[in-house]
Amino acid sequence: MKIFSLVMSVGSLAHPALALDTRAIDRSRVPFSSGFRQPEPPMVEPEFRANWNQHKWDANVSHIASGFVYNSPSQRKVRVDEAYDSTFGSSLLDYNNVTQEGVANRLWTLSPAITSPPACFEGFTNPAFPLISADFLVANNAIYGGEVHDALAGKVSSWDILYQGAIPVTVLLGEDNIIQGYDFVGPETRARAITRFFNIIVGPIRQMSSSESADQRQIAHQYGERTKLLWNVEGGKK
Ligand SMILES: *[C@@H]1O[C@H](CO)[C@@H](O)[C@H](O)[C@H]1NC(C)=O
Ligand SMILES: *[C@@H]1O[C@H](CO)[C@@H](O)[C@H](O)[C@H]1NC(C)=O
Repeated sequence: MKIFSLVMSVGSLAHPALALDTRAIDRSRVPFSSGFRQPEPPMVEPEFRANWNQHKWDANVSHIASGFVYNSPSQRKVRVDEAYDSTFGSSLLDYNNVTQEGVANRLWTLSPAITSPPACFEGFTNPAFPLISADFLVANNAIYGGEVHDALAGKVSSWDILYQGAIPVTVLLGEDNIIQGYDFVGPETRARAITRFFNIIVGPIRQMSSSESADQRQIAHQYGERTKLLWNVEGGKK
């Protein structure tokens, strides 16, 4: 019996897969490891587009939305397309135009989607989509939280910042320094928003030529007129 168990344990130690697993973990990056050390914040991939899912909640609201996001620090713009219940919207956040009231936002919405003509809001908001520049973590003096396993993003490194000097944010950084998502808290309202990116496509976001963007405005206008005709509605009232 004794000899048998000895043979078994030597056998498992020699198992190549087991030996590989142990070596693959960098203990200096794992919380509660004695050799843990905090690296300098890295630069991140700044230009990307991706699918996103976001869950925002506070004492009264639980809001889960999805869509597509375009992050372009070279143009200082973030575009967020969103679908939620019967609301469908697209925001263009202009980080060239920031005041004390927030970031300039041009927002198109269809709500409820089936019966309304589009509405357009132009003004300032404090968006849950920051403009991510290459030095996002460096400039915000990010604190390393170690390598963690996120239920949706998988193995990521976690970095904490105080966004705008006020909002605690945990940024999840994947392989190749691509941001996989971030978690915000709003301490005043006990709000929290968790955002994850999927299908991340890294690379410059093309700037529309002025004639293309005029075409887009024309299409949006025609679409609005057609929606009104199709459902014979004015503000969803008829
Ligand atoms: C900044 O945004 C506001 C609100 O949408 C808009 O009225 C204003 O024209 C914008 N300014 C510039 C320089 O784009
Ligand atoms: C939740 O609703 C209550 C009652 O309407 C209100 O007093 C409170 O300010 C709301 N809380 C938040 C975080 O919006």
